[in-house]
Amino acid sequence: MQAQKTLNAIPANNNNLPRNIDKGKTDWRYVNYKDWCSGFWPGVLWYLYEGTQDEKWKIAADKFTQELKPLAEHSGFDHDLGFMVFNSFGNGYRLIKDPAYKQVILKSADSLATLFNPKVGTILSWPGMVKKMNWPHNTIIDNMINLELLFWASNNGGSRRLYDIAVKHAETTMHNHFRPDYTSYHVVVYDTVTGKKLKGITHQGYADNSMWARGQSWAIYGFTMCYRETRKAEFLNFAQKVADVYLNRLPTDLIPYWDFDDPAIPNAVKDASAACVTASALLELSTFIKNKPKARIYRQKAEAMLQTLSTSAYQSRGVNDAFLLHSTGHHPAGTEIDASIIYADYYYLEALVRLEKMK
Ligand code: GLY
Repeated sequence: MQAQKTLNAIPANNNNLPRNIDKGKTDWRYVNYKDWCSGFWPGVLWYLYEGTQDEKWKIAADKFTQELKPLAEHSGFDHDLGFMVFNSFGNGYRLIKDPAYKQVILKSADSLATLFNPKVGTILSWPGMVKKMNWPHNTIIDNMINLELLFWASNNGGSRRLYDIAVKHAETTMHNHFRPDYTSYHVVVYDTVTGKKLKGITHQGYADNSMWARGQSWAIYGFTMCYRETRKAEFLNFAQKVADVYLNRLPTDLIPYWDFDDPAIPNAVKDASAACVTASALLELSTFIKNKPKARIYRQKAEAMLQTLSTSAYQSRGVNDAFLLHSTGHHPAGTEIDASIIYADYYYLEALVRLEKMK
C-alpha cells in the first residue's frame, strides 16, 4: 500500500530515488544514484518481491536497480558504495541471479577495497573528510555494514584478499572503536603513517563519548554479519556485548532516543531507523546463540521492537507514503529529524521478511 503510493508518486526523471520525508511534509525528497541512500529504495522493492512473490515488485525493483549501474564504473569514492550496491544489486542477485548484477557487485567490491589502508587495518570511510575535517584516516562504525559486499564478492568469484580485508577491518574496529562498556564511537581517526588510533569522536551523535543510537545498531548488525560470514567466535561474542549494552539502556517501548546520552531525554526525538536495524540484527543473532534462553531473549526483543514499530505511534499510514515515522538522520546538522527515512523502511521490511522465514 505505502510502496504502491510511493511508486505512483515517483517523478519520471533521474532524480527519483526516495530518501526522506521531513516532519510535517507529505512528499518524498528524491535523490539520484550517487546519494548514499540510493540502494535502499530498490532494496525495499526486492524485499517486497521476496515477501509476496508478486512480479510487479520484481519489475519495479529491477528498474530502480538499473539506475545505479553507473556505480560499477566509479572509483572507491566512499565506503557507502556497500550500502548502495549491496542493497540493490546484492538483493537482486540473491533473488533473480542476473549475471549483469553480479558484475556490478564484483566491480564495486574491488573499488571499495581500494580504500583499505593496510597500515591501519581499516577502510577509509570518508575520503571527503580527510582534508575537510583534517581526519587523515577516518573509519566510522557504519562501515561495518559494507564489509558484507567484500565477503560476498570474495565468495562469488572475487579475490580472497577481499575476505582478508573485511576480517582485518572488523578486528581493528573491535579493538579501537569501543569504550570499555562496549558503546561505540561514531568516528575513529587514525594516523596514516603509524597506523595508530589518534582519537574516537562523533559526527552524528550527541557527543564524542555518547552512544549514538544508529551507530550502536550498525555495530550489532555488523558483528553479527561478520560472524555469519567467518564463524569466528570473537565476532559472535562481541555482537552480544554491543547488543546487550544497547538493550539494557532502551526506553520501555524499545525504540531508542536518537542518542542514548542526550540530556533532553525523555523529551528528545526517537530514531526508529536504529530500532529497525537492531531488530533485523537481533533476529539473525538469535539464530547463532547456543544458549537457548539468551537466544530467546534476543528474538523476543526483536519481535517486540517490530510490534511497537507496527503500531499507529510509528506507522506512517495516512500521514505520508513511507512505512515509518520518527527516524533521525543527522541531528547535529539539523537534518532529517523525527522524519520518515528510507533506510528505516528498508531494515523494517528486512526484519519482517527474516521473521517470516524463521517462523
Ligand atoms: N550511514 C549514515 C547514517 O547512518 O546516518
